[in-house]
Amino acid sequence: MIVILIKKFMGNTARLELDGKVYEFPVVTGSENEKAIDITKLRDTTGYITFDDGYANTGSCVSNITFIDGEKGVLRYRGIPIEELAEKSTFVETAYLLIYGHLPTKKELQNFSNLLTQNQFLHEDMKYHFEGFSAGAHPMAILSAMINASSCFYPGLMLGRPFPERFDIHAARLISQVRTIAAFSYRKSRGLPIIYPKKTLKYTANFLHMMFSDVYEDYELKPEVVHALDLIFLLHADHEQNCSTSTVRMVASSQANLFACAAAGVCALWGPLHGGANQAVIKMLEEIREAGDDGSKFISEVKSKTSGKRLMGFGHRIYKNYDPRAKIIKKVCDDLLKTLNRVDPLLDIAKKLEETALKDSYFIERRLYPNVDFYSGIIMRAVGIPTEMFTVIFAIGRTPGWIANFKEIMDNPKCRIYRPRQIYNGKTVNHYMPIEERGE
Ligand code: CMC
Repeated sequence: MIVILIKKFMGNTARLELDGKVYEFPVVTGSENEKAIDITKLRDTTGYITFDDGYANTGSCVSNITFIDGEKGVLRYRGIPIEELAEKSTFVETAYLLIYGHLPTKKELQNFSNLLTQNQFLHEDMKYHFEGFSAGAHPMAILSAMINASSCFYPGLMLGRPFPERFDIHAARLISQVRTIAAFSYRKSRGLPIIYPKKTLKYTANFLHMMFSDVYEDYELKPEVVHALDLIFLLHADHEQNCSTSTVRMVASSQANLFACAAAGVCALWGPLHGGANQAVIKMLEEIREAGDDGSKFISEVKSKTSGKRLMGFGHRIYKNYDPRAKIIKKVCDDLLKTLNRVDPLLDIAKKLEETALKDSYFIERRLYPNVDFYSGIIMRAVGIPTEMFTVIFAIGRTPGWIANFKEIMDNPKCRIYRPRQIYNGKTVNHYMPIEERGE
């Protein structure tokens, strides 16, 4: 049996003893004093690889974009605390910050906004693609397919590295068109005619216009609603190496184009353990309401583990404290419902679930707290967004983060293709048997 005997920091190196031999590996320290052992040469020097199922303890890259301290519940984009951005910034300004690494000047922001407006229309021929989807198609399926299809209309996109000169336009096109495609997918899924974006409207107001202008009579763009949705986009804009962003980086490492990478990101985001959780939370709350439960029975079922149920919108791989985004969203949720004079029975159930869980030893021991998805669905319901569009809203928000991570890969000439290894545990040599000899 082989045992790792010593693995400790020795100044700037870590020592590892394997089979009685000592090896030294460099220690990498980040700007927030995060430490990692650089094991790039581990296999070459020792013959071993590391094993880390689900990448729970693997740093896949060095990044300058987003910092999270999961123990303390801290989230910063380019060093700026999420609370400050939520209070003072907008989604578009934050998108610029993430992609270009600094807050824009007035002129830079104006140019960026102009680029978004100039690139908000889809190529007219893309309409025919929309027609091919069935009426009940999930908008996430349409979104990923249509983003990928965009590559066909912009040949300049097909370049990976050397980095496309027209990156600014492609980035703006993606941010702007993700929103247009999302609204078109909703209209398509309801069998409604498409509404084109308006040049006079800002990013989030324009999305609501494309979704609802003719659905509700006298649809009015209420500033509180626009603000709440803009904040949801901003709070989702990046979250370091989550499943979808890692997917985008993985695809980008092969030097695929920006739209192909973003389409892959949408697919990774779709699952209920990631972006799909916001939809799953509402489904869970509705089931609890329909069962006449106040949440206590559901919590017992979750804890029993035999039900296979999880408290959706709770828990996080990185946060072992309250997700800072959830704190902001909970407050906005309360404020918005008050402003709109709305009562949502699901909000009461959610609050009761949170109260019960935060006092319960099962959740305390596992350090499970509400995450960004716990209350965001209730805001989206209040805004009138149908449940099947919730994950699409997450995707619109996350797009700048994907672009920033794509850019980081493309800007780094030393970036290698992402290619993890594995521990093979299947059959050893197993020779081909002719079909006549295989029995019944
Ligand atoms: N409800 C009940 N038990 C849970 C939950 C939950 N939501 N989350 C984790 N646990 C338990 C899990 O059963 C395990 O228990 P035990 O130690 O007895 O086996 C323990 O906590 C550790 O869980 P894990 O699955 O090993 O943790 P993970 O880091 O692999 O998973 C997670 C993180 C977010 C996938 C998970 O907490 C989860 O499934 N949460 C519900 C889905 C959700 O809300 N996802 C959105 C995440 S935030 C948005 C985003 O960034 O994507």
